[in-house]
Amino acid sequence: MADVTVRVWRGNAQGGAFHEYRVPVEEGMVVLDVLHRIQAIHANDLALRWNCKAGKCGSCGAEVNGHPRLTCMTRMNIFTPGETITVAPMKTFPIIKDLVTDVSFNFQVAKKIPAFQSRPPDAPDGSWRMMQEDIDRVQEFRKCIECFLCQNVCHVIRDHEGKKQHFAGPRFFVRLAELEMHPLDTGTRTGLVKEFAGIGLCNITKCCTEVCPEHIRITDNAIIPLKERVVDEHYDPVVWLLRKVLGKR
Ligand code: SF4
Ligand code: SF4
Ligand code: FES
Repeated sequence: MADVTVRVWRGNAQGGAFHEYRVPVEEGMVVLDVLHRIQAIHANDLALRWNCKAGKCGSCGAEVNGHPRLTCMTRMNIFTPGETITVAPMKTFPIIKDLVTDVSFNFQVAKKIPAFQSRPPDAPDGSWRMMQEDIDRVQEFRKCIECFLCQNVCHVIRDHEGKKQHFAGPRFFVRLAELEMHPLDTGTRTGLVKEFAGIGLCNITKCCTEVCPEHIRITDNAIIPLKERVVDEHYDPVVWLLRKVLGKR
């Protein structure tokens, strides 16, 4: 058993500072275990979110040595022995207490996205017919665990408070792509993608893709195809006319 030095940001909306703790670490531990050990030994009132400890609930995101990560999926053996580990709250969202931030911006955006609108069944037995490749394409987007690490690193949300009100962010480009590309969905959301979601503000830096713990190719598979659809439908008169006549294809 070795000891490790961990600097954890403690404070609230009024301000705070890093506090240093030294705790014993055993083989197989992850950063979330270390935070729990700090709670147990040194700071019972340390605030942090977690639920599953399995990389699936999306609630334990923080900045570990400056990198946005799920603390439950960050193994301690990736750090150099003797290295001091720094854990800070996600930088983009307002602080509530210690490592807990107010991520309600994301829920406000989510509320504004119209739900799935299914076409009627294809067969009398109530079933639908879909191509496997169409299913595979949207399945990638369904892996999102809503950790909001991508929203945290997106510079439009992080650095441009004024523009944030007209920008949904990468997590919701994934959601919009999932709906837009779903073979059964009849809704048309390209107007929403262009105006409310503000996809034109995304300059494809790929920072969101780099931090996604589910390895969703946010930029290549969601954002760029959505940008192409917006251009086709709002700036290409032939595609616009076909869509008016034939509906969503
Ligand atoms: S690629 Fe676009 S959505 Fe993703 S972080 Fe960069 S600006 Fe934000
Ligand atoms: S797209 Fe990836 S990084 Fe963004 S909220 Fe979903 S799982 Fe997290
Ligand atoms: S505790 Fe659920 S993703 Fe980390």
